[in-house]
Amino acid sequence: MRIKYTISIIFIVALVIIEKENNIISKVSDKLTPRLTPLLMLSASLLSAAQHNVSTDASAHQHLSALENSTRSVQQSGGRKHILLLATTRTGSSFVGEFFNQQGSSMFYLFEPLWHVERMLTVESGGTNASVAAPAYRDVLRQLLLCDFSLLESFIEPPPQDHVTAALFRRESSRSLCEDPVCTPLVRKVFERYHCRERRCGPLNLTLAAQSCMQKQHRVIKSVRVRQLETLRPLAEDPRLDMTFIQLVRDPRAVLASRMVAFSSKYDIWKRWAVDGDLPVDEDEVRKLKGNCDNIRTSAEIGLKQPPWLRGRYMLVRYEDIARFPMRKAAEMYDFIGIPFTAKVEEWILKNTQVSKEVSGVYSTQKNSSEQVEKWRFSIPFKLVQLVQKVCGPTMTLFGYKFAENKDMLTDKSVSLIEERTFL
Ligand SMILES: *[C@@H]1O[C@H](CO)[C@@H](O)[C@H](O)[C@H]1NC(C)=O
Ligand SMILES: *[C@@H]1O[C@H](CO)[C@@H](O)[C@H](O)[C@H]1NC(C)=O
Ligand SMILES: *[C@@H]1O[C@H](CO)[C@@H](O)[C@H](O)[C@H]1NC(C)=O
Ligand SMILES: *[C@@H]1O[C@H](CO)[C@@H](O)[C@H](O)[C@H]1NC(C)=O
Ligand SMILES: *[C@@H]1O[C@H](CO)[C@@H](O)[C@H](O)[C@H]1NC(C)=O
Repeated sequence: MRIKYTISIIFIVALVIIEKENNIISKVSDKLTPRLTPLLMLSASLLSAAQHNVSTDASAHQHLSALENSTRSVQQSGGRKHILLLATTRTGSSFVGEFFNQQGSSMFYLFEPLWHVERMLTVESGGTNASVAAPAYRDVLRQLLLCDFSLLESFIEPPPQDHVTAALFRRESSRSLCEDPVCTPLVRKVFERYHCRERRCGPLNLTLAAQSCMQKQHRVIKSVRVRQLETLRPLAEDPRLDMTFIQLVRDPRAVLASRMVAFSSKYDIWKRWAVDGDLPVDEDEVRKLKGNCDNIRTSAEIGLKQPPWLRGRYMLVRYEDIARFPMRKAAEMYDFIGIPFTAKVEEWILKNTQVSKEVSGVYSTQKNSSEQVEKWRFSIPFKLVQLVQKVCGPTMTLFGYKFAENKDMLTDKSVSLIEERTFL
């Protein structure tokens, strides 16, 4: 099937890969591993220890708030910035992640490390339980932002041997994990699968990865797995971290349309419902859709309200603005975080938003990106648009996505469904 409306091949490739993650997770959830029980006990004790630290630190944080007239705990992080790029699937987060991955020599970037955590928790309970997952995500992120891979290690399957693993998810998506000295020579042929994009590297030595992380000035992690921004509050309040949270959102109608094209068979239920007037709507699917929209909205509402713990640390970015004005938005993000925008990032964006490419039958040219961004309007049945508008209405309103009143308005090219908005 032809995917026409995505702005560039990069988006398509990146998003398909993200979706693959989810498929892998559901497959893996059928299996149980013997290693699980001790591991969960270990992580449970780490989690409770971490929680304990947070609560005993409460009074320390009161004192710290006196320091907060400078809004950022620059003193303690030595000008080092810690950035979390938070998104949901099919919002272009891999593409936006590259804005940081391509920065150059002072950025340590990790792509979806929480994949391992989600997978293991899913195996354990047959589904992720937010009250278990959220603290695990938070603690793994905190450690990784401090260049400590030990908690993540306990979630990697198979378990790393001597802190060396060939199984780190999407290692090749992190430049820092593929450059010297983290890229160690291949010793045996058996490891040939685990190479980086432009060069072959031996399995990943996490000690070397941590050392590289320590040497880099700034640290960025991208994740599509955090549901509620509020669960990450302890990171914002951790004096060792100078956090910025970037939340990436996209029109939920476009997300659904995009998923329906890319993962056709998974969306049969929606499609059948859209054409068959008598079929009852699948309540389970509607609940999921609503849950996603509500989580995204709740996080954004907290961020936009700018409570003291988030002041100057939260930025909301829409996919549609990235797609239309990638350079401007990238520069804005760097500016907001407070680190210089580099020529390398600029080059990467130029190269990856203007080049036309042909990949496996999917053709994409550099068309007018404003048009590209709204292509979904021609591929989704109006009935589904109505449903999304009903279920995700408040989310859409918050982000400036206009409702299509009727089918004609949906497909009227002269009407944009994106309100121009600035969020800060
Ligand atoms: C809790 O704090 C103590 C002392 O500050 C530290 O040694 C320990 O590693 C912390 N535990 C966790 C899980 O962060
Ligand atoms: C807070 O701001 C005041 C003046 O704006 C300054 O004198 C003081 O040193 C600041 N405190 C800290 C801890 O930075
Ligand atoms: C999630 O886990 C918590 C704590 O283990 C448990 O109390 C709760 O019932 C679980 N929720 C679901 C939906 O399984
Ligand atoms: C991983 O790197 C560290 C640091 O250079 C080194 O000490 C260690 O021996 C390496 N581990 C393996 C298994 O090669
Ligand atoms: C792209 O299309 C939009 C809407 O059709 C139009 O307003 C805009 O001027 C076009 N931009 C370019 C560079 O062609």
